[in-house]
Amino acid sequence: MPNKPQILFGKDVSLAIKADLKIRIAKLEAQGIKPGLAAVLVGEDPASQVYVRSKERQSAKLGFNSNVLRLAMETSQAELLQLVSQLNNDDLVHGILVQLPLPDHIDSQLIIESINPDKDVDGFHPVSVGRLVLGLDGFVSCTPAGILEIIRFYNIKTSGKHVVIVGRSNIVGKPLANLMLQKSELGNATVTLVHTRTPDMGYHTRQADIIVAAAGVPKFITADMVKEGAVVIDVGINRVDDSTRERGYRLVGDVDYEAVLGKVSAITPVPGGVGPMTIAMLLSNTVKAAENSLK
Ligand code: GUN
Repeated sequence: MPNKPQILFGKDVSLAIKADLKIRIAKLEAQGIKPGLAAVLVGEDPASQVYVRSKERQSAKLGFNSNVLRLAMETSQAELLQLVSQLNNDDLVHGILVQLPLPDHIDSQLIIESINPDKDVDGFHPVSVGRLVLGLDGFVSCTPAGILEIIRFYNIKTSGKHVVIVGRSNIVGKPLANLMLQKSELGNATVTLVHTRTPDMGYHTRQADIIVAAAGVPKFITADMVKEGAVVIDVGINRVDDSTRERGYRLVGDVDYEAVLGKVSAITPVPGGVGPMTIAMLLSNTVKAAENSLK
């Protein structure tokens, strides 16, 4: 029997990150700067509302100058562009976040590209993505950045390891692949990225020393897809109906957790794994933007 798997509590990592941020925030405050984060939410997508409320609560708790702009579903693209322009020009705002998805009548890419790259704390602007690909300093998308912090905290070796990432999204799969192949302490991995058009996905995932599941499908990674002793990072946050819960649903990851538990050497739980890291890294990016404003 393999040893008991290590559970990678992102929640604990996020607390350590926030404790470190407090020190940097105090230094900024001594120089008369309060990190300013503006979050824009258009419409009433339930999951987005939950995320934005959590971002609001956590940034306020760290003493940010935080502001959530809640706009009606019918807000026009021109109005949203105007608002972003206003935030770009507001010296009290160091970070701008436009919550995705946006309503269909708004071109998300156009909105992302209208954000000043110096305030792009989501790391979605082509300037941020380009800097990441080139290995230059910049804002890195929060979920991939958070995964790297979990890897750092638990001292998981990546150099020379085979990392298989399931999912090619602009928010997770693509930036994470770039981070992990970087010539850096938490990189130097051999990276395979598989997606919906990959035949025999299990063939690839079974080769992985580290599997990152970002498919957006509940329990997509089954035990037969995982090599004995692999490290499994589960990015999924899927709502599945559960009448035994008061709110009517529960959260499950992209990994069949119970089934793979007996095979893996380490795994992130859902909830309490990757999830809490996303907001922690957003806060971290905002502190970095505030620090950069002094340069
Ligand atoms: N929607 C899902 N994840 C994210 C995120 O990290 N940032 C924003 N702005 N929207 C999202």
